[in-house]
Amino acid sequence: MRKYLIYLFLVFLFLGCMDSTKVAPKIASLGLQENSSLLEEGRKVYLNSCTKCHNAVRITRYSRQQWQVVLPEMIKETELTILQEKAVTAYIEAVLESVNPN
Ligand code: HEC
Repeated sequence: MRKYLIYLFLVFLFLGCMDSTKVAPKIASLGLQENSSLLEEGRKVYLNSCTKCHNAVRITRYSRQQWQVVLPEMIKETELTILQEKAVTAYIEAVLESVNPN
């Protein structure tokens, strides 16, 4: 019984790590009213196009400064339209803003 619980715990831990809402929070959870369709598009780009070469990176793992360096490089790597570029940039900024406003 105890072993069973430990396995269950590990499964949930694993699922928790895989949870895309932690990696890339949903727009509704950001508490913003404006630009939500642009941000929705940005989240889609993030979860679909930015995962061609690697898994989606948890956005809050990197600081604004780190994103400012990494994102333009990654956008170059990804075949995106101008609108998708704008959307994914706005989305990442909104997520960072929601955890660390300044
Ligand atoms: C063509 C393949 C490719 C695509 C598409 C891609 N990446 Fe990457 N990404 C890489 C590689 C390779 C690395 C590791 C090497 C590096 O850091 O330059 C990386 C690393 C990263 C890192 C970690 C950087 C660091 O210094 O630790 C982040 C964050 C990231 N990518 C975000 C994104 C985002 C956001 C997108 C979508 C806009 C994206 N990637 C699309 C290939 C890609």
